[in-house]
Amino acid sequence: MEIVIVEGAAQRDWPISPLEGETAGAFGITAETAADVPAREALLDRAMGPKRRKKSSEKLRRGRRPSEGLAFVARDVSGAVAGTVRLWDVVLGESGRAALLLGPLAVDPTIKNAGIGSALMRHAIAKAARLGHAAILLVGDAPYYERFGFSAEQTGSLAMPGPYERHRLLALELVEGALAGAQGTLKAAGRKLKAQRLPLAA
Ligand SMILES: CC(C)(COP(=O)(O)OP(=O)(O)OC[C@H]1O[C@@H](n2cnc3c(N)ncnc32)[C@H](O)[C@@H]1OP(=O)(O)O)[C@@H](O)C(=O)NCCC(=O)NCCS
Repeated sequence: MEIVIVEGAAQRDWPISPLEGETAGAFGITAETAADVPAREALLDRAMGPKRRKKSSEKLRRGRRPSEGLAFVARDVSGAVAGTVRLWDVVLGESGRAALLLGPLAVDPTIKNAGIGSALMRHAIAKAARLGHAAILLVGDAPYYERFGFSAEQTGSLAMPGPYERHRLLALELVEGALAGAQGTLKAAGRKLKAQRLPLAA
């Protein structure tokens, strides 16, 4: 199957009609909506397994909303979620310097290596830069993320708030010098999720 990735497709363009033969293998990248959440969570379970919720990155995400305008899904022609990536507001140590934490990035295991992960990464990085963010950090495999410009060169004095492998803490500057001298532990800075209201007993 030939994969075509339509980056930055508007939500209203989806789903593409499956009758349009040439788009049969197409995927689009759009903003995530509330309706995507169950499918995104199921995809993450399939791609990463149950231990995903124990990661240190999760401490920076739990109870927070992704950074404004920075939650994306890849969709197939029917609109089904085939990939996911989100970015989160954090601050670096006591300096309070703002940055983004990227993750989790995942693609449906049945369509790996088709370029969907890379398309999600390129789209997310471009959007973050356009929104004026200065730097993106993540915990992941350098051999994958270095193709997007990430490295551990500037993360030696930074730390995650929990166990992690130091060499997997990677960063990308969107603004030159944004991470110069950065040190300390990452802290969550995202907008808090509203507490769920319990129905009042009569
Ligand atoms: C990692 C992941 C998001 C990549 O998405 P994808 O759509 O399969 O990847 P792409 O098609 O964009 O890129 C494929 C290339 O990346 C390489 N690649 C994939 N995962 C890699 C890894 N962990 N380390 C090094 N290279 C990797 C592939 O070998 C392939 O290389 P090639 O271009 O030389 O053939 C996807 O495999 C996935 O969901 N994995 C499980 C979840 C996960 O590990 N997420 C990352 C957490 S930090």
